[in-house]
Amino acid sequence: MSTLGSNRQSGQAGKRRPRLRRAQCWLAAALGFALVAPACADAEKAKAIVANICAACHGIDGNSTIPTFPKLAGRHPDYIVRELKEFVGGKRKSDIMAPICAALDPDDFKSLGAYFGAQKPTSGTVLDKKAAEIGEKLYQDGDEVRGVPACGGCHNPDGSGNKRFPRLAGQHREYLIEQMVNFQKDIRNYESARLMREVAKRLTDDEIKAVAEYLTGL
Ligand code: HEC
Ligand code: HEC
Repeated sequence: MSTLGSNRQSGQAGKRRPRLRRAQCWLAAALGFALVAPACADAEKAKAIVANICAACHGIDGNSTIPTFPKLAGRHPDYIVRELKEFVGGKRKSDIMAPICAALDPDDFKSLGAYFGAQKPTSGTVLDKKAAEIGEKLYQDGDEVRGVPACGGCHNPDGSGNKRFPRLAGQHREYLIEQMVNFQKDIRNYESARLMREVAKRLTDDEIKAVAEYLTGL
């Protein structure tokens, strides 16, 4: 399993400063920099799409407050683009996201990814400390006897994720649990979900709850 966790560049996206970028856009527009302007137009369009469509469920800053709607803030932009494409192709099944993605222009996926990637992610609150401790051990060390790999080897020890392995830190426990069950039941059964299906099938219901409790608090 050691090579699987080799892609460790962490999602730095959350550290970008949108305010600075806005100033740069304004400056570019004022000075008429033709090369910079299209990227700014994309960013403005993404912002409008988020405000009109995505914000209702995912929050204007990507920190959804509804437990079954995932937080998107601080996700690697490439992961967001990949999932949007999977919804369009129908490989990742969701009655909610499929029609939304089908109605979008795929040319906007990249700037939507950049928008959410640049938002600052929030943490949730741990309600069951004991479960979170059990979850932490599983997340950081795995279980060698049963062949459960350490989650942190792929998703990073701090849960920040990267372009291949999504950010899990601070995510709603309900969403995390739902998705781990989706992997177990082969509902998320496309190519990039193959590794995660193998992992999820080795977890018990209690372990799923424990690791979700831990991750919510990160
Ligand atoms: C009506 C509520 C709703 C709206 C509006 C909505 N989403 Fe979603 N979104 C969801 C739900 C529910 C899921 C989880 C789908 C599943 O079960 O796999 C999701 C999942 C996602 C994911 C995958 C997240 C992950 O962690 O894998 C991305 C990316 C995403 N949405 C982006 C968007 C974007 C971009 C928009 C706006 C264009 C949008 N969503 C609008 C409800 C919504
Ligand atoms: C070998 C690498 C690997 C390991 C180890 C791993 N994962 Fe994953 N995980 C993935 C990949 C790849 C995805 C994205 C799948 C996709 O594209 O839909 C993922 C996705 C997820 C998701 C869905 C996130 C979302 O936003 O929808 C959850 C939850 C998750 N993993 C939890 C865990 C937990 C808990 C562990 C440890 C028990 C773990 N993972 C170990 C590779 C891994």
